[in-house]
Amino acid sequence: MKITTTYLLALSAPSVIAWPSVWPYEKRATALPSEWKPGVPWQIVIHAPIDIRTTVIPTQAQVWDVDYFHSLAHPEIIPAIRNPAPDVDNVVLCYVNIGAIEQYEADYSSFPKDAIGNSYEDYPEAEIGCDGIDADNIDGYDWDEPGVDKTGWHLTEADLITYVTTLADYAHSLNTLRGVPLMFGQKNANHLADRLIHIVDFAVLEDCQGLNGRLPGVHEAYCHDFQDFVTGEVRSDGKKLPVFEIEYPGSTENGSTNLTKSDWEYYCNRDKVEVGNVDFSQVIKHESEQIDGWVQYCSESEKMGKFWTVTLPIG
Ligand SMILES: *[C@@H]1O[C@H](CO)[C@@H](O)[C@H](O)[C@H]1NC(C)=O
Ligand SMILES: *[C@@H]1O[C@H](CO)[C@@H](O)[C@H](O)[C@H]1NC(C)=O
Repeated sequence: MKITTTYLLALSAPSVIAWPSVWPYEKRATALPSEWKPGVPWQIVIHAPIDIRTTVIPTQAQVWDVDYFHSLAHPEIIPAIRNPAPDVDNVVLCYVNIGAIEQYEADYSSFPKDAIGNSYEDYPEAEIGCDGIDADNIDGYDWDEPGVDKTGWHLTEADLITYVTTLADYAHSLNTLRGVPLMFGQKNANHLADRLIHIVDFAVLEDCQGLNGRLPGVHEAYCHDFQDFVTGEVRSDGKKLPVFEIEYPGSTENGSTNLTKSDWEYYCNRDKVEVGNVDFSQVIKHESEQIDGWVQYCSESEKMGKFWTVTLPIG
């Protein structure tokens, strides 16, 4: 939940750019690619629309998580990141801030129906080429501490399970361009992981390794809570669900692209069994309020595996 949708109002489509009216490599695959499995390399860029006029990097990313509203405003983006070359078939997840329910003046009795209606029914996620929905801020019940009704809805864990189940069922009722059900992801909300594992299709986690000693007490490590997602041992259908892990090391604050040795060792070089992120798809992103085009993969070394996905200017 690093970003809000309000900034989108400031977005305007650049008028000087001529986009191809038909993306040359666009193809209508009829199933998810075999690469859609735990550990698949990915990239997430939601601060600004991706600039597709040159080769979009990193090319090894086979799953792309992009802002849904950018994709509506720039319909050229999804075809270009889905099929960047004739033989490449990437999976696209569309980021939507479901937590916008926070802003709705609904009363308790209309939750979650109004929230779902407002979040979904006007928007053609499946039709524009999204394969799945990365729904941020589903963990509204975390906002309600005992005795503090932060959301105004007296939310309980059971409400949230019902809410997410309804959203996921609705997504699954829609067909993507591939002709398969639109997927729905769990975002954070680790206390719900053991129940939502049966309902969702993937998970996107922020800071599951904790904060490497920063802001003591704010945030516990919780990667372990999602380790069952990737094994396929818990679900009755045996499906292995990809888990997309975003870490925001303190040393990448203020736009730095150089991790300190301590952050590198902590986020990239610890035993995955102990951390609980075996087979997760991990990215290091800037610690900021914005998920921009910069990414580092842990697979290489402290100084390697860094990329900038080029984005369009905002506003
Ligand atoms: C980022 O900038 C703030 C304000 O100048 C500073 O206090 C902080 O130490 C900086 N963080 C890093 C990692 O350099
Ligand atoms: C990051 O590291 C590179 C070389 O490894 C160096 O050229 C650059 O100045 C460093 N940047 C910062 C902000 O320290």
